[in-house]
Amino acid sequence: MEDTNITFSFLLFFFLLMGSSSFVVSFDGPLYDPTAYTECKLQPEEPLYGGGIIVDQLGTSASWVKIEGEGSGLIRASLQTENEMYNCVGTVLAKHGCWSFLKGGFVLNSPSQLSILFFQTADDSAVNIEIASSSLQPFSVQQWNAYQEYMINTKRKRAVTVHVSDMQGKRLQEAAIDVEQVSKDFPFGSAIAKTILGNLPYQNWFAKRFNAAVFENELKWYATEPEQGKTNYTVPDQMLQFVRANQVIARGHNIFWEDPKYTPPWVRNLTGSELRLAVNSRIQSLMSKYREEFVHWDVSNEMLHFDFYEQKLGPNATLHFFETAHKSDPLATLFMNDFNVLETCSDVNSTVDSYISRLRELRHGGALMDGIGLESHFTVPNLPLMRAILDKLATLGLPIWLTEVDISSTLDKETQAIYLEQVLREGFSHPSVNGIMLWTALHPNGCYQMCLTDNNLQNLPAGDVVDKLLKEWQTGEVEGQTDEHGSYSFYGFLGEYRVSIKYGNRTSSSTFSLCQGEETRHVSIQL
Ligand SMILES: *[C@@H]1O[C@H](CO)[C@@H](O)[C@H](O)[C@H]1NC(C)=O
Ligand SMILES: *[C@@H]1O[C@H](CO)[C@@H](O)[C@H](O)[C@H]1NC(C)=O
Ligand SMILES: *[C@@H]1O[C@H](CO)[C@@H](O)[C@H](O)[C@H]1NC(C)=O
Ligand SMILES: *[C@@H]1O[C@H](CO)[C@@H](O)[C@H](O)[C@H]1NC(C)=O
Ligand SMILES: *[C@@H]1O[C@H](CO)[C@@H](O)[C@H](O)[C@H]1NC(C)=O
Repeated sequence: MEDTNITFSFLLFFFLLMGSSSFVVSFDGPLYDPTAYTECKLQPEEPLYGGGIIVDQLGTSASWVKIEGEGSGLIRASLQTENEMYNCVGTVLAKHGCWSFLKGGFVLNSPSQLSILFFQTADDSAVNIEIASSSLQPFSVQQWNAYQEYMINTKRKRAVTVHVSDMQGKRLQEAAIDVEQVSKDFPFGSAIAKTILGNLPYQNWFAKRFNAAVFENELKWYATEPEQGKTNYTVPDQMLQFVRANQVIARGHNIFWEDPKYTPPWVRNLTGSELRLAVNSRIQSLMSKYREEFVHWDVSNEMLHFDFYEQKLGPNATLHFFETAHKSDPLATLFMNDFNVLETCSDVNSTVDSYISRLRELRHGGALMDGIGLESHFTVPNLPLMRAILDKLATLGLPIWLTEVDISSTLDKETQAIYLEQVLREGFSHPSVNGIMLWTALHPNGCYQMCLTDNNLQNLPAGDVVDKLLKEWQTGEVEGQTDEHGSYSFYGFLGEYRVSIKYGNRTSSSTFSLCQGEETRHVSIQL
């Protein structure tokens, strides 16, 4: 582009009009392309999907972006169709002199014959933008869901063949076999609050469903040390007792929260060496008391949006927190945790690339054992964008958790439930997501945004969705008989299993674990 006043580039796409009702899908393999890049490259790669430009209902968009002139800039892609403007369908932190990969997506509310994809700087500043290797790939809802199913079947489940023989190795045919999944590998849980203490029905309700928990507020600094020096861990200790009693894992949330609003007032008052002393003693106290108890620590909560400690202690404050935390509990995974990374691409503070560059800075400074926390407080989810962002984050090879999933209370309960199901399916089907936590701690006066039940533990629509998915994502009762080879095969969700065999008057009971793998797991049992 010649004119420096032009602040955006655009691509024109002629969309084939396709009534979704007349579009019959036969799914014969994964169409979706999870490829993503986060390095700035000298040459753009080939476009995904050969540059496909047909849009049905859901679309993923990918382009390589470079800016002319100095430095780097946040570039936002938006989509103008005949009927509507989609303000943000993806962002990329583009540089001068090399090509950066923008991956995003959108859901069309109505079909469109002609659309324009715009690229412009997020702050509308004047800069020339170069675009290469663009693609737009359409998906029908059926195709989108079929890919999720495919990923769940291949990544969250595994084929098992059980061989039954006698002690001499003779295959036993028609042996009765009964398989039970006794635990699930995938952590799926919810926030709990101190309201669970002494509330046996709530405790039973929780323990029946979830294998992971996080304390909503009870570990936060303002809760454990409301006045300087008056540290009180009574409540988190009691909650941890519930967690242990039910063999649930727990995330440590959080050591520091960068939002000054949630920093204890007495801490806000401190500066310099006094503040340094206070933060060090916070980490030491928390991490020595709970060493090896919590599977993760959110070290510096919401640091993409707030910077209380950096303002007060300098730009390396968080790096220092990570180092100190790692020394205090070397086996704990130390997480960043933030909102509006996965939920939207319109928040300039928390784009996927700003998350990645902050992570890289921390690693560069020596931070270890890190993980990617995505709060996931959604309103209307954009699933193609969500998947594109997960694809980019996945290139880092770090554990990714959805840490605080809920749907805004501005939507009615039925709509919350529909969107919740979409988000949970998208998260569970992404192979790089290692765990999902709901933000649904129950209080007598409601929940943060979304409750699963009413106060009598009767399901609300969101609770029905969770119960449905819990049932769907576990291996139900498996019963059968060995075949003429003395074997029996099934697909099971990853986890621990108990298998009981009955042959004539002989019985056997044993256990095995089904962990991730591309091959069929073979289990031999003799009796
Ligand atoms: C600690 O907290 C518990 C629970 O809120 C409270 O009952 C107890 O009095 C507190 N202890 C001290 C020493 O303040
Ligand atoms: C903060 O400092 C001011 C001035 O020293 C003092 O009056 C106030 O009580 C302090 N606030 C807290 C919460 O410690
Ligand atoms: C973005 O971060 C900056 C610096 O931390 C902060 O001043 C600003 O308020 C943040 N904006 C939003 C929208 O959170
Ligand atoms: C911050 O840490 C980095 C990496 O350890 C170091 O190079 C830099 O000098 C530090 N900056 C300050 C202001 O301490
Ligand atoms: C089990 O059955 C076999 C024959 O099928 C018989 O020889 C054996 O005595 C039985 N054992 C017991 C403990 O009943």
